[in-house]
Amino acid sequence: MHKVKAVNLACPLDGLPLTQGERQLCCPAGHSFDIARHGYVNLLPVQNKKSREPGDSTEMVEARRRFLNAGFYRPIADQLTALMLQSLPDTEPCIVDAGCGEGYYLDQVNRVLAANGRDATLIGLDIAKPAVIAACRRNRQLTWLVASNNNPAIMPKTVDLILCLFGFPVYPAFARMLKPGGRLLLVDAGPDHLLELREVIYPEVRKSPPPAIDKAQQAGFKLVDSRTLRYHTAALNHEQIADLLRMTPHLYRASSVGKEAAARLSSLRLTVDVVFRILGRSE
Ligand SMILES: C[S@@+](CC[C@H](N)C(=O)[O-])C[C@H]1O[C@@H](n2cnc3c(N)ncnc32)[C@H](O)[C@@H]1O
Ligand SMILES: [Zn+2]
Repeated sequence: MHKVKAVNLACPLDGLPLTQGERQLCCPAGHSFDIARHGYVNLLPVQNKKSREPGDSTEMVEARRRFLNAGFYRPIADQLTALMLQSLPDTEPCIVDAGCGEGYYLDQVNRVLAANGRDATLIGLDIAKPAVIAACRRNRQLTWLVASNNNPAIMPKTVDLILCLFGFPVYPAFARMLKPGGRLLLVDAGPDHLLELREVIYPEVRKSPPPAIDKAQQAGFKLVDSRTLRYHTAALNHEQIADLLRMTPHLYRASSVGKEAAARLSSLRLTVDVVFRILGRSE
């Protein structure tokens, strides 16, 4: 039986600390949460689900897994882990990947920490069960949760670093999780991200800046550091272009004419333009 480390986990119903049982995590008030055979714990109460299958579908998750495994975003993982090492305290840290998808980045974080001889508590959570199942397949050693950024089921003031890549940050909930001095690392698309694909699927390309962080500031965060990573990928083949479309919101936004144009492509090199922002709490 897979042992899920119950470190820093909270009951999603009452916030009490969860402890490890044989096949469950339990809170002192008697709520219990089964450890699924894949190795994750579902801490998303049914009443908090806004749809029957929230978050990314199996098809999107599989497309993202294939695309990331091909290494096109490896430089993003490398920049992420370099910034992570700079942001961690000397003590054994707790890192949460909020909206971890199929676990590519937290797995890279784990590899880099191990290579640096550092122990850590690593928790990946996502609202989409198919994503969390894929994350368990990628690395069963980490703690994977089906949970929501709205109610992450993590004890207050226990987390050193929250990662949120191309995700849906909920700043007040993130603020509650962080220890004093803790950091939030946001990774978002910049104006030129995937430009060549957008030029194919949209009649007109809008170059939007990364999402504003005013809501983060309202929750007491301040910007500590900001970096841009730009590079060109190797050429994607026809299947990889289809996977990239499946894993992004562009699939829903593009017109059928745009999608047909993308389907005719046999090869495409892409600009990656990604913004890394490190936020801290002004206590
Ligand atoms: C664009 S994907 C990014 C996944 C991963 N961070 C990556 O970069 O590969 C966004 C992820 O956020 C998840 N998600 C959406 N709403 C969420 C919420 N309220 N709480 C947690 N995860 C959520 C989706 O299921 C999806 O896996
Ligand atoms: Zn409880």
